[in-house]
Amino acid sequence: MRGRFIVLEGGEGTGKSRLQHALHERLTAEGYRIDARREPGGTPLGERIRDLINADALGDDVAELLLFEAARAHLVERAIRPALAAGTHVMCDRFTASSVAYQSFGRLLDRALVEQANAIATRGLVADLTLLLDAPPGVGLARRQQGGALTHFDALPLAFHERVRDGYVELARESPSTWRVIDAARPFEAVFADAYAAVRGALGEPQPPAA
Ligand code: TYD
Repeated sequence: MRGRFIVLEGGEGTGKSRLQHALHERLTAEGYRIDARREPGGTPLGERIRDLINADALGDDVAELLLFEAARAHLVERAIRPALAAGTHVMCDRFTASSVAYQSFGRLLDRALVEQANAIATRGLVADLTLLLDAPPGVGLARRQQGGALTHFDALPLAFHERVRDGYVELARESPSTWRVIDAARPFEAVFADAYAAVRGALGEPQPPAA
């Protein structure tokens, strides 16, 4: 049976990486075969593109979009699709919704253009479940100051991060059957409990060992 594709989304400092790490550890211990990936990155080319994007603001929103999409195309074809086809579940820290939230709602690129670019990069692969870690940008950005690698995205005006958040909330509202909104301003344990319940619901029982 094909694996399930789970995506974690949210603004800066909402705790996606920590949550993904904890979910992966717990699910693996329970016998699930599940890969953990992140965007941008996850393949050697993707990690190089990540360094490029994070080093400096590119100064052109379309160039930025296309770099994210190039990393995504590689990750989908080299890692995500083969894993799913082999019956392994995949969890990914950010996916196509990041481009809609950041490049369209945030940078104000036309949404249809961003969605077209997403469709090209993914060749139609969509997440079975997207968890939105939702918190006011002020909360997330304050957390980021205390730890974690800051990028030039963190330094963008609060209004940018407000638009990103609004974009995510709108996407969740449009697809209630495949999105769950989790209040990420709460302590980690509460966030983990909600996320774990949603992911377990989507995965069903652990797969039999790979042949
Ligand atoms: P990262 O260090 O991974 O940030 P985070 O820990 O918050 O995920 O840097 C990725 C940055 O790239 C983040 O600010 C969001 C941004 N981004 C986009 O603007 N568009 C995209 O399509 C993706 C995948 C990320």
